[in-house]
Amino acid sequence: MNILVIGSGGREHAISWKLAQSERCDKLFVAPGNAGTASFAQNVEVGVTDFQGIKQLVLSEKIDLVVVGPEAPLVEGIVDFFKSDADLQSVLILGPDSEGAKLEGSKDFSKAFMQKHNVPTAFSKTFTKETALEGLAYLDTQEGPYVLKADGLAAGKGVIITESREEAKEQLKAMLLDAKFGEASAKVLVEQFLSGIELSVFVLSDGKNYVILPEAKDYKRIGEGDTGLNTGGMGAVSPVPFADAAFMQKVDEQVVKPTMAGLQSEGIDYKGFIFIGLMNMDGEPYVIEYNVRMGDPETEVVFPRIESDVLDLFEAATKGQLNQESLEINPKTAVTSVVVAGGYPEAYKKGDEMAFPEEMEGRFMFHAGTVLKEGKVLTNGGRVMALTGMADTLELAVEKSQALASEVKFNDKYYRKDIGQDLLALIQK
Ligand code: AMP
Ligand code: GLY
Repeated sequence: MNILVIGSGGREHAISWKLAQSERCDKLFVAPGNAGTASFAQNVEVGVTDFQGIKQLVLSEKIDLVVVGPEAPLVEGIVDFFKSDADLQSVLILGPDSEGAKLEGSKDFSKAFMQKHNVPTAFSKTFTKETALEGLAYLDTQEGPYVLKADGLAAGKGVIITESREEAKEQLKAMLLDAKFGEASAKVLVEQFLSGIELSVFVLSDGKNYVILPEAKDYKRIGEGDTGLNTGGMGAVSPVPFADAAFMQKVDEQVVKPTMAGLQSEGIDYKGFIFIGLMNMDGEPYVIEYNVRMGDPETEVVFPRIESDVLDLFEAATKGQLNQESLEINPKTAVTSVVVAGGYPEAYKKGDEMAFPEEMEGRFMFHAGTVLKEGKVLTNGGRVMALTGMADTLELAVEKSQALASEVKFNDKYYRKDIGQDLLALIQK
């Protein structure tokens, strides 16, 4: 099969690297890709929401399967575009249509979905410009910490958590009345604060059947000890020690099954990934959010652990045949450390030349923000690479990942040195 992966991050590098291992993978394209994907696939300079450009590429290269990495094209309706185009209808595409993508594209929609289908989640109320005063009055009745969420996509910045009621009120006004996040904050959810440990759970759905992929823990803040600004993710670990069989059973029964049943009863034919961000509160799972794609950098620890042929799995998902597939998982632990350009997640530089250590057993170097120019690999984004180590124990996997992170070279590199340390402390207790 000829395959096109859409996206350019570490997630897309890991997904296409795994696809390339399939015997049934003929030609592999990544649009637009990065310096990492260029080493084994063909990068094509087409943007992720350039649907006409993607169509030309699919037709000219006779693509059989399209795998959509990021959320933007899904929320903008790439799957609907394929289904309604006579030339593209027969092309397999992995991802939900725009109705399914609302699970991520609108937090108001996903909250209403969870409430309607009895998926455990934080209590919340939604306010608009017209009801802003009610929103302010509502905050007066609540205890902190206060959680405010812009309804729409806000590049990962739309969630504000603060202890201060005054700050919460200012932020609510800024979002609703001054359009702090543009259209995305035309509606704002004021949500109950959930305290516990977070977990990322990944489901591959064919609309009816599903498989639960390995879970992961993400490290979102820029600073060690989970301090400082939020980022796209600074590291990840899989498996997660507290997500034992009993907890995952609860997740399946209380979260995944009602989610799948809800999608079906709403008439949403969901073929793709569902990334469920959970809070483990005293052993009970509560959904923080749905995403309609894989996580990044979680993919860089989840995919190295998948032993089954992912092309078989993806094809089956697009055809409603996941019940005919089995999922084999490597029991080893994978840890990834993300190296970023100094300054990220605020202003940072691009275009610095990079140098790499040798490939070795159990060490995987996934590129994120890199580009190949005149034979040189240059930094090209805030998150530059995700460096994964895989080993029999968490301790050894942390060591391998951190060694890689120290060995990759570029100007003004930064990475967290505490990835996995909280989980090591947990298992050593
Ligand atoms: P989201 O964009 O929904 O993933 O939210 C970003 C982050 O904010 C999450 O990963 C959590 O760490 C945190 N968060 C979101 N909602 C809540 C909540 N209701 N209670 C506590 N933390 C939350
Ligand atoms: N690592 C979190 C995300 O992909 O949204």
